[in-house]
Amino acid sequence: MTTLITNIKELLQVRDTNVLKLSGEEMKTLPTIKNAFLLIKHDTIVEYGKMEELTSLEADQVIDATGKIVLPTWCDSHTHIVYAGNREQEFVDRINGLSYEDIANRGGGILNSAEKLQNTSEDELYEQSIHRLKHVMKLGTGAIEIKSGYGLTTDSELKMLRVIKRIKKEFPVKVKATFLGAHALPKAYKEDKKGYLDLMINEMLPKIKEENLAHYVDVFCEKGYFDLEDTERIIEAGKKHGLTPKIHVNQFNAFGGIALSVKHGALSVDHLEELKDEDIEALKGSKTIAVALPSCSYFLSIPYTPARKIIDAGLPLALATDYNPGSTPSGNMNFVVSTACIKMKMTPEEAINAATINGAYAMGISNEYGSITRGKKANIIITKPVPSYNYLPYSFGENNIETVIINGEVI
Ligand code: NIG
Ligand code: FE
Repeated sequence: MTTLITNIKELLQVRDTNVLKLSGEEMKTLPTIKNAFLLIKHDTIVEYGKMEELTSLEADQVIDATGKIVLPTWCDSHTHIVYAGNREQEFVDRINGLSYEDIANRGGGILNSAEKLQNTSEDELYEQSIHRLKHVMKLGTGAIEIKSGYGLTTDSELKMLRVIKRIKKEFPVKVKATFLGAHALPKAYKEDKKGYLDLMINEMLPKIKEENLAHYVDVFCEKGYFDLEDTERIIEAGKKHGLTPKIHVNQFNAFGGIALSVKHGALSVDHLEELKDEDIEALKGSKTIAVALPSCSYFLSIPYTPARKIIDAGLPLALATDYNPGSTPSGNMNFVVSTACIKMKMTPEEAINAATINGAYAMGISNEYGSITRGKKANIIITKPVPSYNYLPYSFGENNIETVIINGEVI
């Protein structure tokens, strides 16, 4: 099966050589080809170039993209889309004056979602989750990282991870699974944090390894959740079981979680709404990428990750949604890209780079995804006719996507 896309107004993120991530400096440039074609064979990008270089129109399927922009699908490197029910009552409570912290302190928040998930069957959880997944695929997401962390018991954490595994099998989207048992202290262990850490380390992790259910290990490293010492224990145990760290840090407080994550070779550090100079220093020269989650800042009315500070220090930055029921009930990467430009002063080039190639790096798949490169997976967005790629972030809240191709197939 071959698909030829012709007359593309502008083909974005074209990289002849396989770059794995872009530094702050490199993010400023978005390589494109105007009036281009793109040829897909089965699930792979095989050729692209200027229309005048196209020698044959022969293909099983020809898509005319006159006036339209073509780019790689979004790589959403941080989500929690496997969850049960919603938390719209807490949303109203926050409007009426309670804080995210107040809600958590009275037993809501993550524990509210955990209770809902514990009372939901694996099949029902799968159905609810794929409903969200299908929606974000239509919005241009072609690769997604999904975390556990609303189970908080061995059975329920495994239930979440098995749902992720099933999604991986059933859908063409690239999926990476992360174990986030250390998301909150479950009620049963309220006075026994050590007991819960032991449970994760001695019971959950070995089972996860046995069933090969996760690639990454995550910890909500935050005041009132897991401190540096807890985080280090979980990271070390995760690494022993073959899991690479990807850590929630600096969402509300900055107290050294970034340096700790870097020391342990974390692939990414995510959130970073609070960021100190020493955090920037810790990231320099490391393989750890910073991930900003602007929809979370928008929804919780908390500071935005200081993207300019990160990028201007030369550091790579990725953008992701954080899709979850409590802090970000949205998986729309288009909104993330817009918000990054509008609120974080990222240029459209930087934001698109952050949501494609650097997003792919933040989930360990940039050798196969995130750019228009010969040999990479054919995961492609074709927009509606638009005046320029700047229009994509500019027209926030508008759906500019016409067609999404995942693994070479129009979805
Ligand atoms: O990334 N911060 C920790 N975890 C999620 C929110 C969890 C929730 O409120 O359900 C986040 O924002
Ligand atoms: Fe998160």
